[in-house]
Amino acid sequence: MDLAPPSPQAQACALTVLGLESSCDETAAAILRRAPDGRIEVLADRVLGQTEAHAPFGGVVPEIAARAHAEAMDGLVIEALAEAGLGIADLDGIAATSGPGLIGGVMAALMTAKGLALGAGKPLIAVNHLEGHALSPRISDPLAFPYLLLLVSGGHTQLLIAEDVGVYHRLGSTLDDAAGEAFDKTAKVMGLGFPGGPALERIAATGDATRFGLPVPLKGKPGCDFSFAGLKTAARQIWDTLENPTDQDKADLAASMQAAIARALARRTRRALTVFAERYPDTPRPMSLVVAGGVAANKAVRGALEAEAEAAGFRLIAPPMKWCTDNAAMIALVGIEKLARGQVDGLDAPARARWPLDGASAKADPAIGSGRKGPKA
Ligand code: KG4
Ligand code: ZN
Repeated sequence: MDLAPPSPQAQACALTVLGLESSCDETAAAILRRAPDGRIEVLADRVLGQTEAHAPFGGVVPEIAARAHAEAMDGLVIEALAEAGLGIADLDGIAATSGPGLIGGVMAALMTAKGLALGAGKPLIAVNHLEGHALSPRISDPLAFPYLLLLVSGGHTQLLIAEDVGVYHRLGSTLDDAAGEAFDKTAKVMGLGFPGGPALERIAATGDATRFGLPVPLKGKPGCDFSFAGLKTAARQIWDTLENPTDQDKADLAASMQAAIARALARRTRRALTVFAERYPDTPRPMSLVVAGGVAANKAVRGALEAEAEAAGFRLIAPPMKWCTDNAAMIALVGIEKLARGQVDGLDAPARARWPLDGASAKADPAIGSGRKGPKA
């Protein structure tokens, strides 16, 4: 059953949407309102992390994540409504991430949204988590389309062109691990704890990034895809050769690995900047490169991207960190955009472990895959 989309009159009015997110290890609920002039107001924005629950295992455990999401979601919705000073009746729609992600987790947000939509007679909007990241810079900045997006998190590493709401072209994605995973797994091998990225960056500060030679992934290969599995293995092999590693050894390996990941991201992004500039020659200068995802917090990564952007006539934009990492504000924003276009979903909308944002490139390149097989990121 599709609940009725808003009338054209309603589309010109303010729209207020509750967004829910639970696809990885953050449970989140947010309420955004878009004024008729297009201004976005964040009325509530709640995020509950699960770092402590997963820390003993050195990574996200899907079953633990799913249970924690299910336990936290209702409370977060109540808190978000209280923060916004609204009741369910005041909402125009309810949006939830319905994929891609850990399926048990995705169910928590999607089922909660379905229950609320059915109970309150509100439209449901099933949101692709990647579209949330793609539009996230527009929560805080009226950024014009088109722009290039590099999404680098623990679950995803991809280069996307955002041409318009609902129109995305994937230029490349990782063939194996995500960049955040390369940080996390190397940090785990080195005993730095979880999440590894920030810990590795901390010790890299006093390290010599030139001490250990690490390979350049996909060297000489055309295109904008990424690969981090080889780097991760090479770092582990170096670690295994170190007998009783000193703090300096650790710092040097962390710095070398960080530099290698930053370099790999920058090199592939350089190609995407060229593709973008050729495809959209009339875009006003400077063009925009957006970096989102947890790895965007890394200063070496940002520095490398900034240099590439500047050299190619782009400005680098990073959304505020709270909207760079997983959050529900970006899901509510996609909800508003889709609702304004009358794009609502039935209560049979499925939870999807895999759901490429750009269906066309998924079909053209089966390695990316939209089914059960294919790289996770
Ligand atoms: O976007 P995010 O919060 O969650 C998802 O993965 O969806 O990203 C988390 C990832 C983790 O792999 C974490 O280690 C990495 O981002 N990360 C960092 C830094 N801060 C977070 N990696 C390198 N340096 C950092 N400062
Ligand atoms: Zn994410």
